Amino acid sequence: MSTRKRILSGIQPSGTIHIGNYFGAVENWVRLMDTYDCFFTIVDLHAITVTYDPALLPQRVWDAALDNMAAGLDPARCTIFIQSHVPEHTELCWLLNCVTPLGELGRMTQFKEKSERERENVTAGLLNYPILQAADILIYKADAVPVGEDQAQHLEFSREVARRFNNRFGDYFPEPATLIGRGARIMGLDGDTKMSKSMDNFIGVTEAPEAIWEKLRPAKTDEARKRRTDPGEPDRCNIFSYHKLVTPDDGIRDIAAGCRGATIGCIDCKKIFHANLMRVLDPIRERRQDLAAHPELVREALDEGARRARKVARETLDGAKKLMGLL
Ligand code: TRP
Ligand code: SF4
Repeated sequence: MSTRKRILSGIQPSGTIHIGNYFGAVENWVRLMDTYDCFFTIVDLHAITVTYDPALLPQRVWDAALDNMAAGLDPARCTIFIQSHVPEHTELCWLLNCVTPLGELGRMTQFKEKSERERENVTAGLLNYPILQAADILIYKADAVPVGEDQAQHLEFSREVARRFNNRFGDYFPEPATLIGRGARIMGLDGDTKMSKSMDNFIGVTEAPEAIWEKLRPAKTDEARKRRTDPGEPDRCNIFSYHKLVTPDDGIRDIAAGCRGATIGCIDCKKIFHANLMRVLDPIRERRQDLAAHPELVREALDEGARRARKVARETLDGAKKLMGLL
């Protein structure tokens, strides 16, 4: 039995991942694998709470699995699995449904936003989404959950669910702490909105180097630099914020000075970023190709992940049912 503290995080099955996902989350998870007993679940049951195409979901889940594994969620060093393969999550979700007051669910920010967008299809599943998320976490008695700022409210909600269960049925679930990563909020290539698949402003982690360059070349920089001889301000430039993700400190200093003194052009600056980025992405892309060439190994890894997860999940669930008086 591992004595390491345990963490769990959920991965949306949005298909292939972009550098916003990588530098904002996955890179941090990979670091955490050294010190924590890590569980990662691809949350297909959360994905079906909004309108979706069932014909496309399997590929979205598969691409998310391969990309995240290639990016460092090595199944030999963590437990990675598909949420719906561990039915105990939904069973605990029902138990937790029965300790959660209705009023709070309608006040969750993500629910309000999504139900605004989904006017025609606001399901009970969408309302209960945070309860399933609490079940994802509590079923492994996770000590902490590494997520972005946007999930802070759901995490607070999960702690309340644990507290409410414990007050009523006895001390059972630890309250999971929130581990906010290095907080990188990575903007899209447009420089105006957060990088996302739906905005089509992203750099895919496993895109071909040439394709990435074609996206970078025309990307917006500091508007003050109309000509090569115009000095610029790196702090107004999105490309400079990208540099901070991959360029060593001395390189950053050179670029800042070169930009302010107009001794470096934006294209050269982007070329340096591209080279430094590819040093991170090349091995990921290669691993992705290896994984894609051996789908049976990926499937086995996900099956093994689900098996390991189910062992822990079953035990927690049985304990919770007993406390609730279920025979
Ligand atoms: N709601 C999370 C998101 O939108 C995904 C998620 C589902 C999750 N279950 C989780 C995150 C459990 C952390 C822990 O990103
Ligand atoms: Fe941005 Fe680099 Fe151009 Fe300066 S030189 S504006 S940091 S791309």
